[in-house]
Amino acid sequence: MDTIHIQASTDYDVIIERNSLPRIAEFLQAIKPACSVMIVTDDNVGPLYASTVSKSLETAGYTVHTYTFPHGESEKNGHRLMDLMETLGQAKLTRKDLIIALGGGVVGDLAGFAAATFLRGIDYVQIPTSLLAAVDSSVGGKTAVNLDCGKNLWGAFKQPILVLCDPETLSTLPKEEWINGCGEIIKYGFLGHPELLDQLRERPLLQHPKDVDTIITQCVRIKAYVVEVDEKESGLRATLNLGHTFGHGIEHGSAFTIPHGNAVALGLLIMARGAVAHEELDPTIIACIEQLLIAHELPTSTTISRDLILEEASHDKKASGSSITIVVPTGYGTSVLKKVKFEELAAYCIL
Ligand code: NAD
Ligand code: GLY
Repeated sequence: MDTIHIQASTDYDVIIERNSLPRIAEFLQAIKPACSVMIVTDDNVGPLYASTVSKSLETAGYTVHTYTFPHGESEKNGHRLMDLMETLGQAKLTRKDLIIALGGGVVGDLAGFAAATFLRGIDYVQIPTSLLAAVDSSVGGKTAVNLDCGKNLWGAFKQPILVLCDPETLSTLPKEEWINGCGEIIKYGFLGHPELLDQLRERPLLQHPKDVDTIITQCVRIKAYVVEVDEKESGLRATLNLGHTFGHGIEHGSAFTIPHGNAVALGLLIMARGAVAHEELDPTIIACIEQLLIAHELPTSTTISRDLILEEASHDKKASGSSITIVVPTGYGTSVLKKVKFEELAAYCIL
């Protein structure tokens, strides 16, 4: 078992432990007495794990409701949020009650945002069941839904009171979702962690899935440090957006047929090519990134047009006036933040 304590506006533990899911009530009781709970999940994850969670909670005296919605990024929208809010109201959840996000990043972002504003804010717990959610989205309190004009544009910072990650749940995760999670894991390597890149090059996670527990712990430690230093993204936390400026454009521009982690990995490669063009990165690093992406079956090219990627980037949250803050890879395991004019952003977008 690994426990990583995060000190932020809400202090909480991220617990990474195999077979912890059937014992969720044990972990919860220590921080939240019996109350009404709404498990929010999707139609892939719910049938696999919701009854395990509710059985544990009900035995411990919690009253459990479940809200299940169709899986997929296109469900992370305002209409789905409204439906969830109405369901929370109909279930008469009070400020002392709890939401549990059981699923991948879509469930976590949606349920977290509902928790941020229902009754002006109630507690929530993240139970990540996808690799991407385990290494990234369940930690740090960013919650949001998408708008038609861009990704994650309607959201709030709201830290969970607990993150419980049971890597055993990854046994049912389809291979393409493992690949997707690897996109975010490679990203962490370029945020000051060349040792993670070394490990992924020597032992690609797809071929060594038993490494996943330690990799989750490594990634959560990296993210926890960043969130503790800069919870609301006034500086350091923006580095976690490496690969996202073009990644969000690719994801949204493809109508979500290219999933988030794939798009982030490709966004990293595109930005790295731009960095080489600006003489900010040694060209040999490009081959290294390509090798990592190929080893994890991530894309190294796209049919989405450069114009569309740049257009989508102009709606990015990191934009301010005529400028945008980008994250530029500068070496093997290093990146920096850079504010550029939109005209200059185009020079970084090398497909
Ligand atoms: P997802 O939630 O859509 O999950 C991917 C797919 O895997 C879904 O079909 C889901 O039903 C299925 N799934 C999940 N766990 C499973 C399991 N154990 N067994 C079988 N199927 C399972 O997507 P995701 O990749 O987890 O997350 C992507 C989302 O996370 C995006 O919306 C992205 O914007 C967001 N995100 C948020 C943050 C943050 O800090 N809040 C960070 C990164 C990404
Ligand atoms: N995934 C970016 C962040 O949490 O800040």
